[in-house]
Amino acid sequence: MHVLVIGGGGREHALCWGVARSPLASRLSCAPGNGGIARLAECVDIGVEDFDGIVAYCRGQSVDFVIVGPEIPLVAGLIDRLEREDILAFGPNERGAILEGSKVFTKELCRRHNIPTAAYERFTDIDEAREYIQDHGAPIVVKTDGLAAGKGAIVCQTVEEALAAAEDILGGQFGDAGNEIVVEQFMVGEEASFFALCDGRNALPLATAQDHKAVFDGDLGPNTGGMGAYSPAPVMTDEMCQKTMERIILPTMRAMEQDGRPFKGVLYAGLMITERGPQLIEYNVRFGDPECQVLMARWQSDPLAAMIAAAKGQLAGYEVNWSERAAITVVMAANGYPGDYAKGTEIRGVGKAEAISGVSVLHAGTRLDGDRLLSNGGRVLGVTAQGVDIREAQARAYEGVAAIDWPDGFCRRDIGWRAIEREEAQETEERENAERESKAS
Ligand code: AMP
Ligand code: GLY
Repeated sequence: MHVLVIGGGGREHALCWGVARSPLASRLSCAPGNGGIARLAECVDIGVEDFDGIVAYCRGQSVDFVIVGPEIPLVAGLIDRLEREDILAFGPNERGAILEGSKVFTKELCRRHNIPTAAYERFTDIDEAREYIQDHGAPIVVKTDGLAAGKGAIVCQTVEEALAAAEDILGGQFGDAGNEIVVEQFMVGEEASFFALCDGRNALPLATAQDHKAVFDGDLGPNTGGMGAYSPAPVMTDEMCQKTMERIILPTMRAMEQDGRPFKGVLYAGLMITERGPQLIEYNVRFGDPECQVLMARWQSDPLAAMIAAAKGQLAGYEVNWSERAAITVVMAANGYPGDYAKGTEIRGVGKAEAISGVSVLHAGTRLDGDRLLSNGGRVLGVTAQGVDIREAQARAYEGVAAIDWPDGFCRRDIGWRAIEREEAQETEERENAERESKAS
């Protein structure tokens, strides 16, 4: 079949990587793609919001299945449009994508169905928001209702900061996305990304993953789209995954179905693992980027077949197999990101990095200029590696990073640190237990 992937980031390179190894895919295209995707798929110069262009391509080139990567076309109704044209597609329709498109919608759904999430209130009026913030004190979190390219959640350490954030957002800083705000309680815990493949009724949990949103080592500095990810995420024990399914994912699926909004596609719950168990931070309606890269590295059965089953409503009893090996992605970003950065700087050494066993370089923002590879975005490459554990995967990924010659880029040096601390603590415990047993005998 002819498969078309929509998008041009690291997530879409990972999706193409997963689809390309499926025996079901005889032809693979990507709109618009990037310099790395071009090695796997035919890149077509159609923007993700150009629905007419996408439909015309599907018709003209007999596309059988469309996989939509980013949230913007999903929230804007690309799946609805494709369905009207009788083109099978993976992702939620507009009524389902509202879980990411409106934080107010999601918070109200959680409240109605007792889904654990931070206590909150919604506001369109700045005076009411001010009063609530002053009553509740800091730390506190102020969020835009609508999509704001990952910049719409402001974690405020002081009341003054929160008041300023509420004023800026309601004052129009994010346009219509900020016509309404959510002000919510600050939650303490470790974050994890939880993904479930959904077919409107059934939800199938995928492997666990965790990303690093902050730009600097030690999880410091401003938030980005994600500077790295790893899978599995040790914080997501089997028990925690089960609680997440029972308390968060399945009640959401039921609520959406009851509401006449059956959810299809990937439901991505951003979680805070607190003392009281998993709490929902927010929903996304797509794969995470860079979490998709580590999931595709570990996805052993056919990811295309699974996405087709989800789109057709056939996930009951479906199983997905994962490699036992751990995977990690280290994002290389342009100097200055997430602030201003230059585009068009030359990158060398990607081939050398990929020659290292277990290393793949997934492109996020690149383009080809003849034989030269140029940067074309903030997040530019995702050096992805596998190993027996996170520590080995991390060592390989950084070997890959070292092989890449790109003076205009940088990366975090500590991707996976929480998981490695856990691995080391576990090893120490096992060693001490063994010593105690040998002394006792
Ligand atoms: P969001 O866009 O809602 O995922 O928020 C972006 C980031 O802000 C999250 O990944 C968290 O690090 C942080 N965040 C959002 N909401 C909260 C909250 N209620 N408590 C603590 N941190 C939060
Ligand atoms: N890695 C975070 C996101 O995809 O939103």
